[in-house]
Order: sequence, then structure tokens, then C-alpha cells
Amino acid sequence: MTNPFRYGGVVSADAFCNRRSELSDLRRAIDNSERMFLYSERRLGKTSLIQLLLSRLPKRDYLTIYVDLWPTDGLPSFATTVAEAIALSTSTKSDKLLETAKEMFAPLSPSLTLDSSGNPSLKFGIVRSMPKQIDIQEILNVPGKLSQKMNRKVVVVFDEFQRLIEYENDLVERTLRSVVQTEENVAWLLLGSRKHLIQRMFLDQERPLYRSAGHYPLGMIGTEHWLPFIRERFLKANKEIEDEVILSLCELSEGHPFYTQHLAHALWELTPFNDDATPTLLNEALSLLLQRESYAFTTLWESLTRNHQRFLRGLALEAKGVAPFSSGFIARYGLRSASNAQRAAETLLERDVVDRENGSFTITDRFLRLWIQRTAE
Ligand SMILES: Nc1ncnc2c1ncn2[C@@H]1O[C@H](COP(=O)(O)OP(=O)(O)OP(=O)(O)O)[C@@H](O)[C@H]1O
Ligand SMILES: [Mg+2]
Repeated sequence: MTNPFRYGGVVSADAFCNRRSELSDLRRAIDNSERMFLYSERRLGKTSLIQLLLSRLPKRDYLTIYVDLWPTDGLPSFATTVAEAIALSTSTKSDKLLETAKEMFAPLSPSLTLDSSGNPSLKFGIVRSMPKQIDIQEILNVPGKLSQKMNRKVVVVFDEFQRLIEYENDLVERTLRSVVQTEENVAWLLLGSRKHLIQRMFLDQERPLYRSAGHYPLGMIGTEHWLPFIRERFLKANKEIEDEVILSLCELSEGHPFYTQHLAHALWELTPFNDDATPTLLNEALSLLLQRESYAFTTLWESLTRNHQRFLRGLALEAKGVAPFSSGFIARYGLRSASNAQRAAETLLERDVVDRENGSFTITDRFLRLWIQRTAE
């Protein structure tokens, strides 16, 4: 029997927990052709949620275009990645694919290549020269045209949207702003991790997409949903698990989907068939995971200054939502001054070690937090 808990990568329906209200909110947003920023810290389930949502849309009424912007680094790769995703959404048969691509993206001079297993992909001549605003605009207008031509609603998803901030200029953002405001039958979902970057995109008046889309922060999965999810999966393998053990597990992972699945995976593995998952086994499972990570954590820890270490230690040891610039916190962890603590926060934020959360900070890697609690001096 394979372990029913999955961590890392997109999870499909069989390993997917709850998110019902999110699914219906987003479905409504799509039906209203809205524009929405969906963001959260890393590995919270944005991609899994959107993929599940898209897979449930009836094909005869909806055309879904999913674009992963992760591999893009500027205008040329943005143009070709989007064009390819659009072409692939309309057809996966090679001859049809090239035909559609030529029809929609003639200026990009598309041609077809097949990978070793025979899957078609598109190549574009444009990568040789820098695309102009007009090219980008033409590409971004295609979803709207397709919607009319096919008489379907179109959903465009840009995953890893924060990549745009790293492009050489804000041309894509500016062009998007005008396009998303004019297309009537197209919904735009802009997904991003690195919350502070995404928030900057829609909260900073200086940026083109300022207030041009609604925003939807994705949160943790509540313990009430994890309880049946975890219990059922243990029971299917004839492994018993008391609610109390699940509650402790969720407390350790803070209900963060990736860490909850990871810890549940390890606990399931350690629990013998026809036996109980005990608190002792949970503790063992956690130790095992922390031990596996200990090399990486130690390396990270040693790369930090004393000041950063003190700040992190404070965050790890105190309750969630602690005020890290307060005089009490500063005194307890030897940070000397508020500006000193602020500097530590800035650097750790920049390095993605911590994230802002309601005026406080969280250590993004929940296992690092537990490791610091247990080991760091
Ligand atoms: N609804 C869910 N139910 C159960 N587990 C989930 C759910 N959503 C996410 N996960 C867990 O979190 C992991 C990461 O999910 P996913 O890749 O969808 O997150 P993401 O927010 O897109 O991550 P990234 O920020 O890296 O792009 C999954 O491998 C899975 O273990
Ligand atoms: Mg993702």
C-alpha cells in the first residue's frame, strides 16, 4: 500500500484536503470574468487549488489557459511562454497546434518540434529579437478573441506572477493593465508566492497594476478539515490515530498544507499496520524529518549573523504574532535596539527565511522553526 500523504508538487483530487469555499469563490470570480491576485507564502497550495478548479470546468463552456511564468526572465520568454500556453490550450494535436499558432501568432513565426516521447511543442522565431509593446499586446489579446470565436468563457492563469518584478522593465505589467480592463469574457487569475512582492504589485501606487485586480490571500487549512482527512487515510491502512495526535500534528505544522502532509507522511510510514499512531511515534517522525534537514538548517544557521540568529530564535520560541520590535522582545533575545531588530527582519525577509504576517513575522519553513526550538543556542 502506498503512502496516501503527498508533499511537494501539485496534488490532485485524491490527496487534496478541503478548500471548498476557496473553490466556490474562485469559480464565481471566473464566471464574473474577474481579475484576481491569489497569493500566499510558498507551498501553501495555490497551484494545486487552481489546477483542481480548472479541471472541474466543463470544457464545452470554458477554455482554460494556464501559464507557468517560473521559467521566464524577461519579455522574449514571457511572449513565447504565453503564446505556447495559449496554443496548447486550444489543441494538443500537432498539425492543429501549428495551424492555430500560425493563425494567432504569425508575427512570432512559430514552428513545431516534437520531444523524444513525441509530444509537440512550439518554437518561436521571435526570441531572436526583443518583442515590442505591440507584440505583447497582440498576444494578450488572443484570449479575448478566442472567447468570441469559440463562444466560451476563457480563464487565464499566470502562475508565479511575481516573476514579472524581475523583468528588465514594467512593459508586461503596463500592457496587462490595459488588456485585463477591456476583455469582457476573460477571467485573469494572477498567482504568486513571495507575498511581499505580490502585495507590492497591487498596493504600490507607482506600479502599473495598482488596484487593477481584486486580491485573495490563500490561508492555511483548518484543523477541522485535517482531522477527517488524516484519520480516514490512516484507517484505510488499518492504522488508528486518535484526534489528539492529529491535533498535535497540526499544531506542529501550523496547518500549513505542505508541512502537514510531510509530517503525516512520516508518521504514517512509522505506524505499523493494524496498530496505533501514538504521540511517541509522532515525536519520532518529527525527529526523523528534522534530522534529515539538519545539514541544510545548520548551513543556513551558520550563514546568518548573530543578530539574525537572535531574531529568529525569538520568533521560534515565542507565540505566533509576537511583536518583534517591542522592548520586551529586544531585551529577551539580546537584540539591543529596535533598529537592529528591524535590520534583521529586512534581511531575513529578503532571503525568504521569514514572511510578514499581520504586523509580525513567521519563519517560512515550519520545520526550521521546530529545529531552532530544539537545537539552536
Ligand atoms: N488542498 C490541499 N490538500 C492537501 N495538501 C495540499 C493542499 N494544497 C497543497 N497541499 C500540499 O502542499 C504542497 C504544495 O502545494 P502547491 O505546489 O499546490 O503549493 P503552491 O502554493 O503552488 O507552492 P509554490 O509556492 O511552491 O508554487 C503539496 O505538495 C501538498 O503536499
Ligand atoms: Mg505553485
